[in-house]
Amino acid sequence: MDKFSSRMGAVAAAAGSAVGLGNVWRFPYIAGEDGGAAFLLLYVAFVVLISIPVLLTEFVLGRSTGKPVTSAFAALGASRRWQLVGFAGMLTAFLILSYYNIVSGWTLYYGVHSLAGDLSGLSEGEVQQVFDELTRSPAESILWMSLMLFGTAWIVSRGVAGGIEKYGKILMPLLFVLLVVMLVRSLTLEGAAAGMAFYLKPDFSKLDGRAVFDALGQSFFSLSIGMGTMTTYGSYIRKEANLAGVAWRVASIDFLVAFLAGAVIFPCVFAFGVNPAQGPGLVFVTLPNIFNQIPLGSLFAFLFFALLVVAALTSSVSLLEVVVAYFTDSFRMPRKRATVVAGALTLVFGVACALSSFIFDLFDNLTANVLLPLGALLIVVFVTHRLPRELFVNECAAHGAPWPLAAACFFLLRWIIPVAIAAIFVGGVYNWIF
Ligand code: PHE
Repeated sequence: MDKFSSRMGAVAAAAGSAVGLGNVWRFPYIAGEDGGAAFLLLYVAFVVLISIPVLLTEFVLGRSTGKPVTSAFAALGASRRWQLVGFAGMLTAFLILSYYNIVSGWTLYYGVHSLAGDLSGLSEGEVQQVFDELTRSPAESILWMSLMLFGTAWIVSRGVAGGIEKYGKILMPLLFVLLVVMLVRSLTLEGAAAGMAFYLKPDFSKLDGRAVFDALGQSFFSLSIGMGTMTTYGSYIRKEANLAGVAWRVASIDFLVAFLAGAVIFPCVFAFGVNPAQGPGLVFVTLPNIFNQIPLGSLFAFLFFALLVVAALTSSVSLLEVVVAYFTDSFRMPRKRATVVAGALTLVFGVACALSSFIFDLFDNLTANVLLPLGALLIVVFVTHRLPRELFVNECAAHGAPWPLAAACFFLLRWIIPVAIAAIFVGGVYNWIF
């Protein structure tokens, strides 16, 4: 793949990976399950103190080697055991992709049916029913998932830089504008205040171990870190670009979209009597109600779901890219063949997720809360304990000017962040199992 054309290009592409269903679908449903505002605060803290430095570390690893995650470790002379981290990241990408495509498929389904007008004028109960019927029929989920997977594979097989850059500069801002329009409507619904209170007025008694575990996992998932996507994308960033600046911008965009999505959804959840803790269906049983309250609602709904489909595509492309880069890089497989092999394997696992909500939930929880934190931990330990400090500090310098916070950030990454991740991780796994 070529280098991105500019710093904007690098920001746009990395943001394209980060902004996706994680922001609009996963963030609200997790925040809803974990009590709302207190979770939001914790999430912000984790993004700033842990996830942005980790994102920067992945960029450093990728750009300093110019390699995708599966060979970056070897390029730095790491032992075989460390190389397994890259390999594990590739497997994680694969597992995420399997269930991610199902949700992308639902999004496509909603987009198409909005256009046909099938979702307009439904009562709240009927909106819920549409989602229940969709998820109860594996054949339907498999059909829509396959379409999304096919689209993803098509983009990846052609190499991605150009298309993704364009998306980031045009369609993502449009998604943002649409969310703002929806926000205005959502905030003026009767009963919106209760939703805003849930979302913005923290009640710390609701914060339990589960919320801490979820907040960390969600911040990794949303920024696409802990499995190598951002390492691979880092390898495409030009040498002159300021990595800390790129990381900061990407994280800000990612957070804003998630925050807005929550601000649209929670007033709506309360106004229409939806259960905020109902899980992965939350967005799909909430948003159609709001479009019913907007003039030309079907058109808005179509536009919104279409943009979300594109956002999901740029994220799933970044996932499939990790797997394909592994095949092309480690086995010298031609890109097209690698894409077909990886796509076919994903399809098989995707079908398993469509057939069983247990497998779906397992993949969702296991990847975000276990595999990503573990991957992030190992990447950070590798870069800060196995590589010379100068490598990190020099890579963070832009145009020859040192980054003033490099030393402090390195210290944080070397001593504090691994301990924090490990502690949350161990506590979370304990909670999850017992
Ligand atoms: N960050 C993406 C999203 O929010 C999902 C993703 C996770 C993509 C991990 C790549 C790697 O939708």
